[in-house]
Amino acid sequence: MSKKAELIYDGKSYQIPVVEGTENEKALDISRLRAESGLITLDKGFKNTGSTESAITFLNGEEGILRYRGYAIEDLAEKSSFLEVAFLLIYGELPTIEELKDFQERIVHHTLVHEDVKSILDGFPSNAHPMGVLSSLVSSLTAFYPKSLDPNRSKEEVDGTIIRILAKLPTLAAWSYKNRMRQPVVYPNNNLDYCSNFLRMMFGLPTEEFDVNPVVSKALDKLLILHADHEQNCSASTVRIVGSSHASLYASVSAGIAALWGPLHGGANQAVIEMLEAIRKDGGDVSKYVAKAKDKSDPFRLMGFGHRVYKNFDPRATIIKKAADEVLTELGVNDPVLDIAKKLEDIALKDDYFIARGLYPNVDFYSGIIYRALGIPTDMFTVMFALGRLPGWVAQWKEMRENNEPIGRPRQIYTGYSQRVFSDISER
Ligand code: CMC
Repeated sequence: MSKKAELIYDGKSYQIPVVEGTENEKALDISRLRAESGLITLDKGFKNTGSTESAITFLNGEEGILRYRGYAIEDLAEKSSFLEVAFLLIYGELPTIEELKDFQERIVHHTLVHEDVKSILDGFPSNAHPMGVLSSLVSSLTAFYPKSLDPNRSKEEVDGTIIRILAKLPTLAAWSYKNRMRQPVVYPNNNLDYCSNFLRMMFGLPTEEFDVNPVVSKALDKLLILHADHEQNCSASTVRIVGSSHASLYASVSAGIAALWGPLHGGANQAVIEMLEAIRKDGGDVSKYVAKAKDKSDPFRLMGFGHRVYKNFDPRATIIKKAADEVLTELGVNDPVLDIAKKLEDIALKDDYFIARGLYPNVDFYSGIIYRALGIPTDMFTVMFALGRLPGWVAQWKEMRENNEPIGRPRQIYTGYSQRVFSDISER
């Protein structure tokens, strides 16, 4: 007999079924609550609301656990490649050698984007933020692949759309940077691996040879793995909710990119470096900024600190911190901003305000430092996050569609006026 919770309201008792996940997470299934009792639940920011059941990513914020399809993030970051992880997230199992080869070949086949995309790109001013450009270009893919507009087409067609978006996002991302630099775009070189191809399209020029530094390419691959999925975060929830109206995968991912852009989500990696730079320019007094972050009358927050679900440590931050040290040593980078970051981390980790609220450096505190060491410009950091998060968005969208989930449509508690009498403008 499945477990039930009892709610007593207005003298009546209601039985609420309890749903249990494979890791013993428990939820009250309130889907019948309003019909039976007239009550809805209220939970701003969905801090304690499960929006779905999902078999993709398991995350335990208290114990700092993150697993994709049951595999520990530590093992995946150490032993696999980004495309292997993408396959795992999207199709549910680690690929065999043959499956991975086939997946890579299919992706390579679709890296080129339609030549007309260049004219859309040319329409953006050079100071356009690359995240806005990327979101628009991804949405524009619906125009070049109109069949993708119907996500209810055959499994093969939907899979074709999945492969296309994985193949084209690095090209579009690199081109959004080229637009900013007012440089000619570089076409994909399909003899290169996923990350090396992206780096060449981003930093190379069409007329010159470009040698990708394998240290940079390997570090980028690891960063993408660490960002590949994070269950029902702001952008993944956006992708699912947009897709729940049967909007296309391109439209849903475009919305996900917009959600990721904000500084409280993926935009934090850019905000971290801007904050560290600002502290440095202001004389490097880290304690002053820690005090500002603690002052409730000051809107300033320490960017890269705190997380909605991790309240002890962010396992991705542990891996990335080590990777950052290795990359900086291998590339011989000596960055003054890094010293500020270390000081900030030391002070904040010992401070009661941060300890009491479970505020620790998150993945974005360190990812910005590595991106900077890899030569990635600051306003491209969140684009890098988007490249990494793509397989997660795709997997979340696909799962939502395959489970035939209903359209997402929360309720609200109305707090406005009750009905009022309309008065003619001449009488007001
Ligand atoms: N600096 C100073 N105080 C903070 C910070 C911070 N970075 N983050 C949270 N707090 C305080 C907040 O003021 C509140 O204090 P009190 O209880 O006294 O009112 C308490 O900690 C809880 O904060 P919250 O805003 O209720 O927590 P949340 O779960 O809604 O927000 C967060 C999580 C990530 C949006 C927030 O910690 C934050 O704004 N961090 C900075 C931005 C950032 O680094 N974001 C990247 C997240 S990791 C990448 C990703 O997965 O997107």
